Amino acid sequence: MILVVGGAGYVGSVLVRELLERGYAVKVFDRLYYGDHGIRDVAERIKLEAGDIRTMDVSVLDGVDAVINLGGLSNDPTAEYNPKANFEMNTQATEVLAGLCKKRGIRRFIFASSCSIYDVGIGNDEKDIVLDEESPVNPKAAYSSSKYQAEKSLLAMTGSDFSPVILRKGTIYGFSPRMRYDLVVNTFLKDALSKGHLTIHYGGEMWRPLVDVRDAARAYITCLEADEDKVKGEVFNVVYGNFRVSELALRVVEALKEVDVKAEIRPDYRYHGVRSYRVSGKKLERTLDFTPEVSVEEAVKDMVESIARYRYSDFDNPRYYNIAWMKLLEEADRIIKVTRSVFELAPSSAFQPTVIGAQRRSQGADR
Ligand SMILES: NC(=O)c1ccc[n+]([C@@H]2O[C@H](COP(=O)([O-])OP(=O)(O)OC[C@H]3O[C@@H](n4cnc5c(N)ncnc54)[C@H](O)[C@@H]3O)[C@@H](O)[C@H]2O)c1
Repeated sequence: MILVVGGAGYVGSVLVRELLERGYAVKVFDRLYYGDHGIRDVAERIKLEAGDIRTMDVSVLDGVDAVINLGGLSNDPTAEYNPKANFEMNTQATEVLAGLCKKRGIRRFIFASSCSIYDVGIGNDEKDIVLDEESPVNPKAAYSSSKYQAEKSLLAMTGSDFSPVILRKGTIYGFSPRMRYDLVVNTFLKDALSKGHLTIHYGGEMWRPLVDVRDAARAYITCLEADEDKVKGEVFNVVYGNFRVSELALRVVEALKEVDVKAEIRPDYRYHGVRSYRVSGKKLERTLDFTPEVSVEEAVKDMVESIARYRYSDFDNPRYYNIAWMKLLEEADRIIKVTRSVFELAPSSAFQPTVIGAQRRSQGADR
């Protein structure tokens, strides 16, 4: 059985389906931050355990043969918003989980890392080169540094009894039953469909490595099935291609024309703290003969159809934007904490219903 931690998320919902299609038994462990919508229609075919990776009981590993860890905070804004939780989930909990796997004889452990580890920022031409898995990196941001630290710990655990594999994925695009519209291509598409225009920030000068969500899922499965000696203790970038954001916008707009959606591009030259990096995906091709196949244009056309078919066009829903959703959950949490329920009272509460009329009469109010 394959354990997918974070399996109800954007990537997980696609990966879980791919695993099921290939005949794997799947267990998902997820604290369901975004609900279970992404895996609801396969719920009968998987085992689902709801919980936080930081307090996961070791019994979750019963019957598990391999682990894919996609759990934790999954972008810069959420990691910056709560760096402590980010470090606990993305780094420390990953280390603990890997340690438990090693002890239990669960050898293959695939970790969702990110190409944002390579970020070199904008305005330094010397650094504007294609980087690979051998390139030195020194991530500073909360998200990327938490991923890098987890990578280092996992690689240090490599041994005759443990085979960690690190997948540094580019920014993902494409449709998932747990949809995200806070990823660059998906954001462009959402803006085109909802507003008729898309905005390229900072003139769109920055580079971004990208990959489709189905290709990302297939990369995980390729690493799951690969001979141990090819993947043990290895880091692989998962990238379809590198694009300047301005070019991406053009590609999205051109693809949309083919499905009769018109959108214009609006530049915005203000600085927004942009990331920029170019990354090679050749090692995965060389080592495992794996090449991502789904182009930005194909994914855009597929998304237009899937968004309509499965009704994901409530673009204002905060659930599709990780940071907006987390902030909303926090606010809801503060409100709900008053009675530990939206409507019901906590069991210990000594509430006695008061008959207002009787009380007012006893106070002489009705005389
Ligand atoms: N989406 C991308 O573009 C991208 C790119 C590179 C790397 N990644 C990495 O891939 C992984 C999956 O990304 P995604 O886009 O599916 O993210 P996502 O936010 O959609 O999914 C993450 C899932 O993990 C769960 N989760 C979060 N914290 C948890 C915790 N403490 N305990 C248990 N479950 C928890 C969430 O409920 C959610 O279902 C993440 O590790 C992310 O950092 C994503």
